[in-house]
Amino acid sequence: MKDKIGQLLEEVKSYTAASAFELEQFRIRFMARKGLVAELFDQFREIPATERKELGLLINQLKIAVQEKLDQYKTIFDKTGSISDDTIDLTRPANNVELGTRHPLSIVRSEIIRIFSRLGYTVKEGPEIEDDWHNFSALNFPPEHPARDMQDTFFITRNPDIALRTHTSSVQVRVMETSKPPIRAVFPGRVYRNEAISARAHCFFHQVEGLYIDHNVSFADLKQTLLYFAREMFSPETQIRLRPSYFPFTEPSAEMDISCNLCGGKGCGFCKYTGWVEILGCGMVDPNVLENCGIDSREYTGFAFGMGIERITNLKFQVKDLRLFSENDLRFLKQFEGAF
Ligand code: DAH
Repeated sequence: MKDKIGQLLEEVKSYTAASAFELEQFRIRFMARKGLVAELFDQFREIPATERKELGLLINQLKIAVQEKLDQYKTIFDKTGSISDDTIDLTRPANNVELGTRHPLSIVRSEIIRIFSRLGYTVKEGPEIEDDWHNFSALNFPPEHPARDMQDTFFITRNPDIALRTHTSSVQVRVMETSKPPIRAVFPGRVYRNEAISARAHCFFHQVEGLYIDHNVSFADLKQTLLYFAREMFSPETQIRLRPSYFPFTEPSAEMDISCNLCGGKGCGFCKYTGWVEILGCGMVDPNVLENCGIDSREYTGFAFGMGIERITNLKFQVKDLRLFSENDLRFLKQFEGAF
């Protein structure tokens, strides 16, 4: 029996298969339920205990050798079907490896960060699951503010103190609580709102928040910073317009428009013939917010702004439907390669 196994082992080691069919024959001969390996194991049971150890090892060796051959050829035949000389062309170039592209929102996010980093802004991130304090209370939202309603915000069922953050302004609070002025940073991230998904609204989207706190920071600094951003992001001719607005965490607050980047401000369908398109909210950080975060509002002032990454991307590339950003359709995603 020992000799027989030895012979089979030699045979297996020198075996070559020319086609998937041949390999299957080989597999059946050795590995089928009534194949040679099974037969040897059957005989093995009748063998005296003293010889078992050596023979057991040999049979296992044989089984492993057969399996190795099967695996080795299977990988070849899976690709080519056979390896006979006339069907395989070793000079043929390999298939192209398809490289992915970066997601348009990642491309725009990096561009926003790059622009602000040239003004000395660093980047920080905060958690997407937030507590009421960081998302609302510290930001001066009164208790009855509509954003605190279940209709607008995703709360955790069993704990109304925990919600998915509705804006990246929550990161302002975390950063002010844990660092001393001067603070100059942007906070990119995903935010969530309880909205029905449509072409114009989604239950999650992305924002970049900016914060600058120091001695004597003024509204003029805010305006100049945002003008610089708009011109770097869109074009050197871009104009900005600040309209008075209201946010609980800034006073005064404003919304910023840029001159329509499609018609240059003359008026077109895209800007609804106004010449302007809205891009962000901003303002001087409310002294209450500074105090809530342990910063002395008599010593320091600051400004903040927040923009939607989808919004900037839409303005830049005229994406008509927000859902495209999360559907992973390669035909859409690939169009943004090398966008900046
Ligand atoms: N958090 C606001 C939003 O989600 C955007 C915003 C407005 C951020 C004004 C700011 C700001 O920092 O000053 O709509």
